[in-house]
Amino acid sequence: MELSFTLNGEQRKVALADPEMPLVFVLRDILGLTGTKYSCLQGMCGACTVHVDGQAARSCQIMAHEVAGASVTTIEGLSEDGSHPVQRAWVEVQVAQCGWCQPGQIMQAASLLSSNHHPSEREIRDAMGGNICRCGSGPRILRAVAKAANLSRETPK
Ligand code: FES
Ligand code: FES
Repeated sequence: MELSFTLNGEQRKVALADPEMPLVFVLRDILGLTGTKYSCLQGMCGACTVHVDGQAARSCQIMAHEVAGASVTTIEGLSEDGSHPVQRAWVEVQVAQCGWCQPGQIMQAASLLSSNHHPSEREIRDAMGGNICRCGSGPRILRAVAKAANLSRETPK
């Protein structure tokens, strides 16, 4: 099949032998966007989180044909220069350890803040709880999401 979709704001067409190929491998292995990571490939860890039509989605659980005509955003497209409030908060709080889970964490957090500008601590925990970090960055992730919410509200639209 020829997959036609919008990727990080650009129209893309990709020839695929298998329309059931998981999106994470279309992104990484065919299009070279290795910012999106993977671990479990079972929808359990969140490492592969991207945005599909503005919503956080696990790209290991989405087949290529399911994003035909959709708009997909990866960590590479979240901002041009790392200036998204979540990215700025991540740097300020120095969240990352090994880094593997972090693109998925950032995309999950950005999705939360796009729909909830004033998340409570409970809402942040609930939204981020499905994204697993095998290092010890969990407490800093929660702090960074709260900081990102503040930065979002301060950033002129
Ligand atoms: S690799 Fe997709 S949820 Fe774990
Ligand atoms: S920073 Fe290492 S798995 Fe999260």
